[in-house]
Amino acid sequence: MISPTFQAMTLAAKHIKLVQQSWRALRDVNAQLIGDLFYSRLFYEHPEARALFPKDMTAQHQKLIDMINVVVARLEHLETLTDEIKALGRRHDEYGTLPHHYGWVGESLLWTLERGLGDDWTPAVQEAWTICYTILADAMLRQS
Ligand code: HEM
Repeated sequence: MISPTFQAMTLAAKHIKLVQQSWRALRDVNAQLIGDLFYSRLFYEHPEARALFPKDMTAQHQKLIDMINVVVARLEHLETLTDEIKALGRRHDEYGTLPHHYGWVGESLLWTLERGLGDDWTPAVQEAWTICYTILADAMLRQS
């Protein structure tokens, strides 16, 4: 049965294609570099977020990329990830993550993608990633 969480939030095929294509172009570049860019932006704009994370961020970079890989690969069937996303949302409560932090992370993610993609960062790609992130963040927040 399809989870009610995702029923109302099905991504359009055009969004899925744009997110998958643009992520394919980026993810092979260098996970460490993308992670560096993302967390530098997050901590520069919101220094108070730094205290939530461990001192050594090396593993964190890869975890972020791995998670995006999983979600992007399964965009057509997000309902298969419902339990994982629920659990991820609950773990984030334990990490001390607050609802307004999701806006910070979303902004840093889009900023990172824009830098990484250069000319391939079009308004349509931006819209597709924004919808995608919002769905994921909403689902994490609702389940926590
Ligand atoms: C859609 C949004 C997000 C996704 C997909 C995501 C994904 C992840 C993943 C995969 C992990 C690895 C550990 C685990 O699986 O539990 C993690 C850890 C963590 N995330 Fe997120 N995250 C998101 C939003 C946020 C936000 C908004 C914050 C707050 C600023 C945050 C703070 C953290 C912290 C503090 C850790 C634990 C670090 C550690 O102690 O190792 N995350 N996140």
